[in-house]
Amino acid sequence: MTAQLISGKELSQEKRVEMKSDVEELKRKGITPGLAVIIVGHDPASQTYVRGKQRACEEVGIHSLLIELEEDTKEEELLAKIDELNVDEAIDGILVQLPLPSQINEQAVIEKISPAKDVDGFHPINIGRMMTGQVCFLPCTPHGIVEMVKSQQIELEGKHVVVVGRSNIVGKPVGQLFLNENATVTYCHSRTNDLKQYTTQADILIAAAGKQHLIRGEHIKAGATVIDVGIHRLDNGKLTGDVNFDEAREKAAYITPVPGGVGPMTITMLLHNTILSAKRSRL
Ligand code: GUN
Repeated sequence: MTAQLISGKELSQEKRVEMKSDVEELKRKGITPGLAVIIVGHDPASQTYVRGKQRACEEVGIHSLLIELEEDTKEEELLAKIDELNVDEAIDGILVQLPLPSQINEQAVIEKISPAKDVDGFHPINIGRMMTGQVCFLPCTPHGIVEMVKSQQIELEGKHVVVVGRSNIVGKPVGQLFLNENATVTYCHSRTNDLKQYTTQADILIAAAGKQHLIRGEHIKAGATVIDVGIHRLDNGKLTGDVNFDEAREKAAYITPVPGGVGPMTITMLLHNTILSAKRSRL
């Protein structure tokens, strides 16, 4: 079997076309959704991600405000900037690109962002609302993953979803979202004994461990859906994921590529949350 590709790039494109007309309609009502992106320091990977987010905003007509702060910025300065943006009526979403330099407490920053503008879905209030199935901002990568699986009309109810990785940004919340869809969820991580014992039981396998090619053909049940959240740059400059794609492709029924899989969907769900925030607070 050779797996069907789930293209996050194509699905994103479809969704962004709809979002663009959504934004045009809001603009006719005098509302321009606005996203503020804060980057602290000069990490090249973070700069690339932030540029991608800005370009995507332009594409759908969202106003984007980039705030670049120096590497040695004090925590109080960053918190004061967030306070300003929390009350700025032109700004519907605030995103602080992670990771932050070591002098800044990441959790304090996340908790400073108004839950009503927390388009990353990282604030404990939004996480708690997600866990209890209430209205909230869903975290972008997990939400994008669920949308990709749903785009293939893959049934979720009763299915076994195995998540490899337990980060606050992806692993933990993506399991919760699939649980909300009535799947059965297992979490594995770097300390799991006999990883393969679990992954081979997965109907849907989510590789979010941050370890290049951790998941090989032997980890995958024939006919499974494999979602690759990893992103690693090879010595030849190419990007690859947490999954050995060539091996996985021969076992899985559906697989997401890297690049062009989860990455574009993360940004698309950020746009979705920003537009949703504008509608919630201004319509
Ligand atoms: N760093 C890596 N991924 C993300 C993300 O989704 N949001 C933010 N704010 N920072 C990140």
